[in-house]
Amino acid sequence: MLHTDAPSLLPPSITLRRATAADFPAIAVVDGRSFGEHYSHEQLDDIRSVFDPDRYLLAEDRGEIVGVTGSYPFDVTLPGGAAVPAAGVSWVSVAVTHRRRGILRALMAEQHRGFAADGLAVSLLTASEGAIYGRFGYGIATEHREVEIDRRRAAFRADVPDPGGVRQVATSDLRRIAPAIHRRWAAQTPGALSRTDRWWDIHLADREWHRGGATALFHLVHPDGYVSYRIDRATRTCRIADMATAGEEAYIALWRTLLALDLVETVSARSLTAAEPLQFLLADPRQVRTVGQYDGMWARLLDAPAALSARRYGTEVDVVLDVRDPFLDRGGRFRLRGGPDGAECAPAAGGAPVVGIEAAALASLLFGGAHAGSLARARLLAADDPAVVRRLTAAFSGERPPQHGTEF
Ligand SMILES: CC(C)(COP(=O)(O)OP(=O)(O)OC[C@H]1O[C@@H](n2cnc3c(N)ncnc32)[C@H](O)[C@@H]1OP(=O)(O)O)[C@@H](O)C(=O)NCCC(=O)NCCS
Repeated sequence: MLHTDAPSLLPPSITLRRATAADFPAIAVVDGRSFGEHYSHEQLDDIRSVFDPDRYLLAEDRGEIVGVTGSYPFDVTLPGGAAVPAAGVSWVSVAVTHRRRGILRALMAEQHRGFAADGLAVSLLTASEGAIYGRFGYGIATEHREVEIDRRRAAFRADVPDPGGVRQVATSDLRRIAPAIHRRWAAQTPGALSRTDRWWDIHLADREWHRGGATALFHLVHPDGYVSYRIDRATRTCRIADMATAGEEAYIALWRTLLALDLVETVSARSLTAAEPLQFLLADPRQVRTVGQYDGMWARLLDAPAALSARRYGTEVDVVLDVRDPFLDRGGRFRLRGGPDGAECAPAAGGAPVVGIEAAALASLLFGGAHAGSLARARLLAADDPAVVRRLTAAFSGERPPQHGTEF
């Protein structure tokens, strides 16, 4: 059952419906054409194995699929460690012949009303372009920092220990060891996404098209961490493909091993955080050279009181958030009282200083990645008293920058 009547702004020949298993080949064609990709049979088999038709919504023009949106189920960690169920929107595409007629807007409206009806507090996505999703109430929640490290010049500070304990293992061993470590990392990391067994199987099948011309994966493990990497022999680069650490010794031990790889000149990583401990562990922090910085995961709140009361705050905060959400109309005034030990948030007209805030800006604050002061300067958040903005900045910022860790 759909959650809206046929959206009136769409051309009359366009209808929306839920997908069935039989739609998979046609969905893959629309998606491939939209993104400019020809999927191989092997790629399609992998994708089909995680395709749940109930989670896909289609737009049709006289029986032909012209628009798709889908989602994957995740648990996502909030600051403080609680994990909440979330929908990860994916497979968003509209046929090249049918663009800018409101098909995406209609699909998003129907899909997100469904998420809200299912009781989800948060939805997530990664964006092909930065200008698309702000209008739908999404804000940047995590960032990717791409770095290159000149291994020979990256010496550790003399006082940094060498904890050791690293072993090199085969893929079958990593498959057994890594999921539990990843769960421990996720419990400590705001924004972290849960992984399914099927995700691990596909990732570690390590298909040729994921290698970008480099070797198959190598793996290092420590009791509290692991890293998977490839070697690009042409450029003498070690490319980190996946890494998670649930303890500081593992972090140091694994980085020490990576930066000691003979025959490698550069170690590259695509998704470090802005405040990565590595740079402070080195004698010369500049050796962790940032070569790219991008938005990573985007988030939106479907149920602001539920999401805000599930997280913890760096300092005590008591405000009324006046949330503007023209897309889904799930805004309103919510009083948030929270601190390091707990929080409650419920509809309330007053009782505390009022902060006007756009839905997308609140989503950027949710995982602790954004700075309330910057959002205020960008006019996405406003309070009469500047001290309230300073308190919000302190309360929402976390000890760890958020990281989602899994692409979807
Ligand atoms: C992005 C895409 C799905 C948009 O579909 P669409 O049906 O043309 O979008 P709509 O007509 O519903 O547009 C909805 C709104 O988004 C805006 N918009 C759509 N695509 C946009 C883009 N690429 N950049 C900026 N704004 C965009 C429209 O201007 C419109 O604005 P408004 O309603 O606020 O006035 C489609 O262009 C596409 O398939 N692109 C290639 C694949 C892709 O990038 N998918 C997204 C994956 S994250």
